[in-house]
Amino acid sequence: MLDLACGNGRHSLYLARQGFTVVAVDIDITAVSRLDPDCRPEIVQADLESGSWPFPAETFAGIIVTNYLYRPHFPHLANALGDGGILIVETFAQGNERFGKPSNPDYLLKPGELLEAFSPSLTVIAYQHGIDSDPRPAVRQRLCAAKHTGRGSPVCLPVG
Ligand SMILES: C[S@@+](CC[C@H](N)C(=O)[O-])C[C@H]1O[C@@H](n2cnc3c(N)ncnc32)[C@H](O)[C@@H]1O
Repeated sequence: MLDLACGNGRHSLYLARQGFTVVAVDIDITAVSRLDPDCRPEIVQADLESGSWPFPAETFAGIIVTNYLYRPHFPHLANALGDGGILIVETFAQGNERFGKPSNPDYLLKPGELLEAFSPSLTVIAYQHGIDSDPRPAVRQRLCAAKHTGRGSPVCLPVG
């Protein structure tokens, strides 16, 4: 599993506790380095916005990106998923200006932007764009999608 722009590693920790092997990457690894060694992911310090994609030869069973937006990496996210892999992306979207930061359009997804970016290459499982109230009012967009290359079994998710 890859936790991109992991921050304090809250998702890495969750995934590690579920038994996944996790790679956590961020430009600032101070906080994630403080995680309990028993659940600590492999930590990669990298500036994701300069230079090339840091995992050119690796594929992941899952990639999670939350509260971080760097559009040039969208194609890398889809490419870096293994067959049956799951991508989860969630961040602020247009309309969030009403509630506070981020308000810079560069950091706000346009309506349908994640669908447009990922539906050609991945199978969309869920997509939302709207106002969240928790932990504070904000406009967010989120997408969960799976990669099917046709070589492996389709992803089966439990219902209910
Ligand atoms: C708002 S935090 C989100 C952290 C985590 N994904 C979460 O939702 O809890 C944004 C993260 O992006 C990281 N970040 C910002 N610019 C970056 C860059 N150029 N390369 C790598 N990480 C970056 C920051 O260090 C920060 O940890």
